Amino acid sequence: MKILGISAGHHCCGITLIDNGKIIFSLEEERHNRTKVYKDFYSNVFRAPFLSLKEATDKLGFNINDIDYITSYYPKKESEMIWDTLKTGLPFPENKFIFVDHHDSHAATAYYLSGFDEDTLVVTMDASGGKYSAKYFIGSGGNLKFIDGLGLKNKSFGHYYAMLTEFLGFKRLKDEGKVVGMAGHGKHELIAYQSFNDAIKIEGIHTDKDDSGVLFGQVYLDFYTSYYKRIGSRIYLGSKQDLAYNGQLVFEEKIVQLLTNLHNQYPNVKKIALAGGVFANVKLNKRINEQYWVNEAFIAPPMGDEGCALGCALMVHKMFNPDFKPFKLNDVFMGTSYTDDEVGDQYWDINKFSRELFTPEKAAKYLANGKIIGVFNGRYEHGPRALGNRSIIGEVTNPETYDKINNKLQRNDFMPFAPAVMEEHANTIFKVDKSAYTAQFMTMLYDTRPEWSDKIPTVVHPKDKTARIQIVTPKSNPTFYKILDEYNKITGVPVLLNTSFNVHEEPIVCHPNEAFTHLENDVVDLLIINNFIYKKYEGNIN
Ligand SMILES: [Fe+2]
Repeated sequence: MKILGISAGHHCCGITLIDNGKIIFSLEEERHNRTKVYKDFYSNVFRAPFLSLKEATDKLGFNINDIDYITSYYPKKESEMIWDTLKTGLPFPENKFIFVDHHDSHAATAYYLSGFDEDTLVVTMDASGGKYSAKYFIGSGGNLKFIDGLGLKNKSFGHYYAMLTEFLGFKRLKDEGKVVGMAGHGKHELIAYQSFNDAIKIEGIHTDKDDSGVLFGQVYLDFYTSYYKRIGSRIYLGSKQDLAYNGQLVFEEKIVQLLTNLHNQYPNVKKIALAGGVFANVKLNKRINEQYWVNEAFIAPPMGDEGCALGCALMVHKMFNPDFKPFKLNDVFMGTSYTDDEVGDQYWDINKFSRELFTPEKAAKYLANGKIIGVFNGRYEHGPRALGNRSIIGEVTNPETYDKINNKLQRNDFMPFAPAVMEEHANTIFKVDKSAYTAQFMTMLYDTRPEWSDKIPTVVHPKDKTARIQIVTPKSNPTFYKILDEYNKITGVPVLLNTSFNVHEEPIVCHPNEAFTHLENDVVDLLIINNFIYKKYEGNIN
């Protein structure tokens, strides 16, 4: 049974096809139309995954006539509009359309991709979606049982973090990750802490009421009222880092308090599966993972609304297959890909770039010599993290590498780059004593062991010594694993820097021409595409 999930709207949009429970593809529109999500949010454009559908049809053999069901978190009327926008040439499939609640779709990605066979606390949190900003479930025996949640009359943690992001002078829905990095540089400051503390309160398993009726909620009003009252002025003379630190701290404390209250109602449930934009916060996820009552945590790799197409499809699959149970993902390489012939014939400008056969040994040697490599291998990743198929990789021991790559990418994230580490060395270098599966998808911070933190400065936070690790296994990404292995043989360091293959404010590369442009502009020194390493003629690399 073929089920097409559709995400659309002002946020992320895309499509997912599953066939008898197998994920066939997940495409994200921003990769194909090359416009970052937040830009359309601010211009209030309603987006449908038109190019994703076209790419699926042109490149992945998808035929819209073959689908048995389509599903979305938009009700029928809006979904009809999306269907029209998609220009399928077919009438809206009335009897094939199944609506899935927005937060139920987040819950499906959290629970069904977790592989957990024990009872699981499943929690979704975002700014808002449908009639909720959070939902809680117990996942048991493959079934999701709704417990409770935060309706639109409760304060939203997504709004809280958007408020914090804006207060620091950043853009909400875009710069939240910068706030997380910045928070690691700050310290406790009482007025800021108390003001954030006044903005959102926990009452059992709920937040306090939002009676404002304004778009971004009571949380904004309460914070600003409290803050200006305490400081007696609209000018804050403290550091932004301290504000970020205290805002993040309160955010973590409140969510952990709510989750602990929830856990106390189900004390035997010790696994937790999480999805929704709030859990893009890797520092929060670390804090949750460290709770004494959590045996294992899992965060859906496409935790934001980009994952809702997959979530809807999984929910519909479950409706027709009562025995369907959580399973483990091998990887998230669910996007489009290009063969060497396609790249050679259509994208490689032979007058500008030479190429040689790729081997992991050669790549490792270049990396050990300080070269920065763009990797464009196989299918692209589903979700916000590049996990070695649309990544920029580099060495991790030279502190200058951090500035070098930051400059090339015009990046100012306050966040160190992420380390990719070979599976068998992960716990030697980082404290990965639980939740190692979720670390394959780079969704959580871990502490670095003291004997390693100074050895790998480009990928460890300079102050709190945390790292947003990606565990690489021989199965999850064989090519990346082999490069790491060869690099380890040369240097004795089984870790490489991994950051997404994009420059400032652009989506991650999707088509080979974008990768070649970055090679031409010296964003990367070398480019690996499948079985070849490309370089500029004038690059004089050796
Ligand atoms: Fe959402």
